[in-house]
Amino acid sequence: MPFKQLVFSGVQPTGNLHLGNYLGAITKFVALQDNYDCIYCVVDMHAITVWQEPAELTHTTREVTAAFLACGIDPKKHIIFNQSQVAEHTELTWVFNCVARLGWLNRMTQFKEKAGKDRENVSVGLFAYPNLMAADILVYRATHVPVGEDQKQHLELSRDIAQKFNNDFAKSISERGFGDAFFPLPEPIIQGPATRVMSLRDGSKKMSKSDPSDYSRINLTDDADNIAQKIRKARTDPEPLPSEEKGLETRPEAENLVGIYAALEGTTRAAVLGQFGGGQFSTFKNALVDLAVARLGPIGAEMKKLMQDPGHIDAILADGSARARVIAAQTMTAVKDIVGFVRS
Ligand code: TRP
Repeated sequence: MPFKQLVFSGVQPTGNLHLGNYLGAITKFVALQDNYDCIYCVVDMHAITVWQEPAELTHTTREVTAAFLACGIDPKKHIIFNQSQVAEHTELTWVFNCVARLGWLNRMTQFKEKAGKDRENVSVGLFAYPNLMAADILVYRATHVPVGEDQKQHLELSRDIAQKFNNDFAKSISERGFGDAFFPLPEPIIQGPATRVMSLRDGSKKMSKSDPSDYSRINLTDDADNIAQKIRKARTDPEPLPSEEKGLETRPEAENLVGIYAALEGTTRAAVLGQFGGGQFSTFKNALVDLAVARLGPIGAEMKKLMQDPGHIDAILADGSARARVIAAQTMTAVKDIVGFVRS
C-alpha cells in the first residue's frame, strides 16, 4: 500500500544551537518544505533522558522553535511543535517497547558512547530512547526523515520496529482493512554534500554544544563581532589554500573552513578552492567572515526578537501540537484496534 509522503524530524532542546545544527539539519528542513508536507518537532522528552535544568529546558525549547522560525520554516503550511504536548508519542512508545527486542537496543552505538562506563547509572529512558524516536516518526506514519550520519542507526531501528509490528500483527492489520502494512518503513533523506561541521579549534572533532571552549563553535545567537572573532581565531595551518580538493586531505582545519564556506554559499568545495586556492588564508578568512555574518547575522537577530515574546512562540507550539495531535490520535486509534485493546 502506498503511504502519503510526509517528512518528520526532531531536534533536541539541549544547549546552544550552532552552525553544525544549522548546516547539518535546519537548512535541510527549510529546503524540504517546498516538496513535502513536513512536521518538525522539538523533542523535549528526548532531552530529559539526561538531566536538564527545568528553567533551561523551557528556554531551549523556545529557542529551538525560534531558530526554526528565524531560518524560514513556515508554521502554518507545516507543523512545528514540542513533543511533550502530544501524548500519543509516549503511548506508541509503550507499544514499541513491547515490539523492539533488547538485543536490538543493545547494539545502539550512541547509547554505548553516551553511557560509557557508567551503564548502571544512566536513565532507563536513555536506553529506550530509540523506541521513542521510532514512535515520533511512526505516530504520523511519516515516510521520510532528514537525519545526520549519527542518527542513521536509530532510523534503521525505526524501520525494524515498523517491519516487526507489520509482521507480528499482519492478520489483525489486514482484517481491519489496512492492507498488508500499517506502518511505512521510513527512509532517511541525506541530501546535499555531507555537511559535517567540525570544531574551529580542532578539525578532528565535531562542532559541539558541549565543547568547553565557546571559540570552538559559532552559535546561531552570536552577533557579528562574535562571529568575526571566532573565525579569525579559528585554527589553521601555515600553508596557503590548495587549488584542488585533494590538497585538503591532510589538513582538517582548512578542509572544515572550506566546507563551511561552500555550505553557506550553496556551492562546492572545488568552486571555493577555484576562487581562493593559492591565496593566503587571511584573505579567505575575511571572505568567510563576511559570508557568515551575512547569512547568520539576520537569523541571530530574528531569534533574539522572537525570544522577547515567549507568548508568541508558545502559541505557535500550541497550534502545531493541536494539529499534530489530530494525526497522532488517528494512528493511535488504529494501533489500539490492531493490538486488541478495548476502547470506547
Ligand atoms: N534523536 C535525534 C537527535 O538526537 C532527535 C530525534 C528525535 C529525531 N526524534 C526524531 C530525529 C525523529 C529524526 C526523527 O538528533
